[in-house]
Amino acid sequence: MVTALLGVGLGLLLALLLLAAVLRRAAPPQGEGPGANCHAAVKHEAPRKAKPPTRARKDKPRQHSFAHRLLVTTLKGHSGAVSCLHFSGSGKYLASCADDRTVRLWSTRDFTAREHRCLRANVELDHAEFVRFSPDCRAFVVWLANGETIRVYKMTKKDDGNFTFNTASEDFPKKHKAPVINIGVAETGKFIMTASSDTTILIWNLRGEVLTSINTNQMNNAYAAVSPCGRFVASCGFTPDVKVWEVCFGKSGDFQDVTRAFELKGHAAGVYSFSFSNDSRRMATVSKDGTWKFWDTDVEYKKQQDPYLLLTGKCEVAELCHIALSPDAHVVAISCGTTITVYNTRRGEEEERFVGVHGQHIADLAFDITSRYLVSCGDRAIRVFHNAPGYRAVVEEMESMLRKATTKATRERLEQQITSAKKVLAAIYGKKQ
Ligand SMILES: *[C@@H]1O[C@H](CO)[C@@H](O)[C@H](O)[C@H]1NC(C)=O
Ligand SMILES: *[C@@H]1O[C@H](CO)[C@@H](O)[C@H](O)[C@H]1NC(C)=O
Repeated sequence: MVTALLGVGLGLLLALLLLAAVLRRAAPPQGEGPGANCHAAVKHEAPRKAKPPTRARKDKPRQHSFAHRLLVTTLKGHSGAVSCLHFSGSGKYLASCADDRTVRLWSTRDFTAREHRCLRANVELDHAEFVRFSPDCRAFVVWLANGETIRVYKMTKKDDGNFTFNTASEDFPKKHKAPVINIGVAETGKFIMTASSDTTILIWNLRGEVLTSINTNQMNNAYAAVSPCGRFVASCGFTPDVKVWEVCFGKSGDFQDVTRAFELKGHAAGVYSFSFSNDSRRMATVSKDGTWKFWDTDVEYKKQQDPYLLLTGKCEVAELCHIALSPDAHVVAISCGTTITVYNTRRGEEEERFVGVHGQHIADLAFDITSRYLVSCGDRAIRVFHNAPGYRAVVEEMESMLRKATTKATRERLEQQITSAKKVLAAIYGKKQ
């Protein structure tokens, strides 16, 4: 009798468990994070390939924890892995995109505040892999993971300081035959670049027409970018060089041609990534050969002058490493796996090492336009660091200039700059230690 009852009970339990499992599987995907209609959502009704359902909330990995005295803050809000970070030209905003189907805009002024509010744009039926502001900050463009093309969002400022986001027009036509590895918008506003992992770089006008296609001839493209001055497009890949092209426009703004400008030659193996200083006069590269190099690219390439190699440093490398040169070119940050190492560019010495910054491989690394902060992403969090090595480099450079200064005015200016950089350093270390 008892065993029979037990049998029925067990059977019922099993049936219930089965039902629960079926129901769970049938639950709709949870693409929308908390506060799904936080600010402007964007309507885009075009039919698209359905996205595989995102992981249910309870299966999500626990938030990775990380602490460091140079960590300013962690920006939390994304409910999926953040893949790309970009600062606006004015330096006021940081854009981030993730596989949670959102693009978020963070105010850089809030980095040191307790709360970090963000504005959010939804990417309907898709997600953005890359995001870039337009130079005037009136739009941003994203690379759609499923749509495999560019979508432009117009940003309209409302009276209360909020933005609304609207897709500008049609998405660009689909042209790439291999996965896209980076996109860029020229600071001149004249073109958009997309690069895929084969050897193709496309140059587009802002209306979504292809102006030209570049074959990089590097076996494959590992990385490509537009220079901050908006004149050049560069690429690296399997071959040990970085190739730089000039994108030429006529006086009336019409596209003319893409011409070879210069090359960075000196690595002994493929180049994983590179980065420009803000005036495009310096570049940094990181290679499979286990070194990073710092270059002077302020050359008369039209007279066949080659860039100068200023420095070579050793570093840990892996397939997915990134490099970021600070806008003022004083320091370089290299990510390898979940570690970020910061070196000065004066002697190539290691200045800082941040270990286990994210739960997954670091996906992007960037300095803000003032060289004050370094930001990184990899999991759902965005880490913001003080660029203390950058301030130390400024102090060192100014002190060496001070020794050579001949006029009183110069000396005073340098002394002032040294004092203010030292004050920032004292605040960074004083507060956090
Ligand atoms: C933006 O709009 C939201 C709701 O629409 C509001 O709660 C928020 O305070 C606004 N933000 C600013 C900066 O005004
Ligand atoms: C580059 O950054 C430095 C230091 O932040 C700044 O003084 C300079 O104006 C910037 N140059 C350009 C071209 O943005």
